[in-house]
Amino acid sequence: MPTLLSRADRIYVSGHLGMVGSAIVRQLQQNGFENILTATRAEVDLCDQQAVDYWFADARPDYVIHVAGKVGGIHANAAYPADFMYDNLMIQATVLRSALNHSVNKLLYLGSSCIYPRECPQPIREEYLLTSPLEPTNEAYALAKITGLKSCQYYRQQHGCNFISAMPTNLYGPRDNFDPQSSHVLPALIRKFHEAKAESGQKVSVWGSGNACREFLHVEDLACACLFLLENYEAETPINVGTGQEISIANLAKLVQEIVAPATELQFDASKPDGTPRKLLDVSRLHKLGWHHTTQLRDGIQSTYQWFLENLQAAVSAPKR
Ligand SMILES: NC(=O)c1ccc[n+]([C@@H]2O[C@H](COP(=O)([O-])OP(=O)(O)OC[C@H]3O[C@@H](n4cnc5c(N)ncnc54)[C@H](OP(=O)(O)O)[C@@H]3O)[C@@H](O)[C@H]2O)c1
Repeated sequence: MPTLLSRADRIYVSGHLGMVGSAIVRQLQQNGFENILTATRAEVDLCDQQAVDYWFADARPDYVIHVAGKVGGIHANAAYPADFMYDNLMIQATVLRSALNHSVNKLLYLGSSCIYPRECPQPIREEYLLTSPLEPTNEAYALAKITGLKSCQYYRQQHGCNFISAMPTNLYGPRDNFDPQSSHVLPALIRKFHEAKAESGQKVSVWGSGNACREFLHVEDLACACLFLLENYEAETPINVGTGQEISIANLAKLVQEIVAPATELQFDASKPDGTPRKLLDVSRLHKLGWHHTTQLRDGIQSTYQWFLENLQAAVSAPKR
């Protein structure tokens, strides 16, 4: 049975200032939702159960899209594992408990494709979760996020709560993290090529052989999928959200080069690690429900670069850990 949302329903989006949360707010606005609830960290620290519970009592959300989390690159994950564990455990424990206490109709929790085991068969099916060891560099983050997914299942089992969870693939788009130390590959490439383009013939070096393959979903598509799942997904199993399409890092780099700085020269530094050879989600369950992504990678990179140019100061000066 689909969940019928009314445009007057009160929908809380946690983490609304981040890349994903802000895209979900835009999606809800575009779809005519009139009561979108948000709170900054200064208003409610999601690690503080009492503050979260007071906020829920006052705001009375009907639905929750729980996006907030502590997110970072390899370096940050390796350097601050205790913080990644603590913050992510707390942020989800408090919100799930308050959603129970205040009888929220339905909650959507976001996991991540990087919490699947390190050596998963490809494409990655939902049932591969917890079947073999995790990637050591982000183990603390992964364990905390897996606890969030399992908590949703336990709340369903013990309290009958309608809590569901989704596993998004690598995302990109407006408000991405372009910090050279902590960004993911796609925003890192955009920034590298942008900075090289001032000088014709400038060399841009990309880590690895270029042979590794990855999947990328535009954050506006993810936001669309979140609303779709809130209305159409009712099972306790987390559901993968991605494009089901992969691209080699070499072809990705060429695409970004074409869009951002065609006059530069691209080089691959094969002495640097490639990482996992493939990381692709099996999205057949989502496709069977009737949802498909619509943003093609070239268009998504073009619009993300446009956003980067229009918000240059913020994009290059707001490093995230
Ligand atoms: N980015 C990806 O490629 C990707 C892929 C798969 C899944 N995801 C999932 O999507 C979610 C959001 O990712 P994102 O890329 O949008 O991250 P982001 O840009 O860093 O946004 C995270 C948001 O969470 C808020 N937050 C963190 N700790 C908080 C606290 N203690 N109290 C209140 N708010 C807090 C942040 O607030 P401040 O603005 O105050 O910092 C920020 O608004 C995460 O759960 C992540 O696991 C992301």
